[in-house]
Amino acid sequence: MSSLSPRKRVTAPAVRAMKGAQRIGMITAYDYPSSRISDAAGADIILVGDSLGMVIQGHANTLPVKLEHVIYHTAAVARGARRAHIVGDMPFMSYQVSPEQALESAGRLVQEGGAHAVKLEGGREMVPQVARIVTAGIPVMGHIGLTPQSVHRMGGFKVQGKDAGSARRLVEDATALEAAGCYAIVLEGMPAELAREITASLAIPTIGIGAGAGCDGQVLVGYDLLGMNPEFRPKFVKAYEALHERIIAATRAFASEVQAGTFPAEEHSFHGDLRVVHGAVDGERTVYGKVR
Ligand code: KIV
Repeated sequence: MSSLSPRKRVTAPAVRAMKGAQRIGMITAYDYPSSRISDAAGADIILVGDSLGMVIQGHANTLPVKLEHVIYHTAAVARGARRAHIVGDMPFMSYQVSPEQALESAGRLVQEGGAHAVKLEGGREMVPQVARIVTAGIPVMGHIGLTPQSVHRMGGFKVQGKDAGSARRLVEDATALEAAGCYAIVLEGMPAELAREITASLAIPTIGIGAGAGCDGQVLVGYDLLGMNPEFRPKFVKAYEALHERIIAATRAFASEVQAGTFPAEEHSFHGDLRVVHGAVDGERTVYGKVR
């Protein structure tokens, strides 16, 4: 994470300038509290990923996520972070149709969501979209390799670039995205050697997930690194906590104290002049009155 001043906002040019100077820490977050936590922990970038479709909404993939959903979550995240650079993810079908559609969607993420930049998936075929958005003054982060919005084309969430031909295409895609104006690129789900080679070939930083240690930065979904979902433990995830178990234990403690009548205790109760007085009016109704 960054050694920049804790008060100074991390900008797209600052992210670009981190290449070769310091490693970039990016965390995916979707709401105000996790944004505050990520910011306080020193995350350089908070990505409001379309992974929210799986992590927050419980879908099997990211395809059902709508632009409105990402705008909604980006606005909450933007309110929580004072230093981190906020990236709004462009969901499926919010940019693929045309460069104009891509610009309109990116504009809404910035204007309504408060994003400082947007991210989109795809290689050379996305060059017109990237160029159009960047020309309008919005920084674009690329995303190649295992691109979850192409789950059906890939036949599942599969590591990409394992043979020479597809590895070469990914190197070329990265070069094309850089030339189109991307300020950083996410490399997801590819052999570590390939990610290292792509990183070395670019002047802009790469941020890896399931792409080994040779990238300029790393990203993890916040819920994964906190161990919120024990059923989802792919090889590339490191859980730094076991919050799923700890939250269940805390919630169970609450439920059993309620059942035992030990919560709320005296220190959790308010007292004042007003008490419920039974039968003060008509001998029947319950009203509020002053305790004598
Ligand atoms: O949607 C997301 O969270 C992402 C990251 C995993 C890179 O795209």
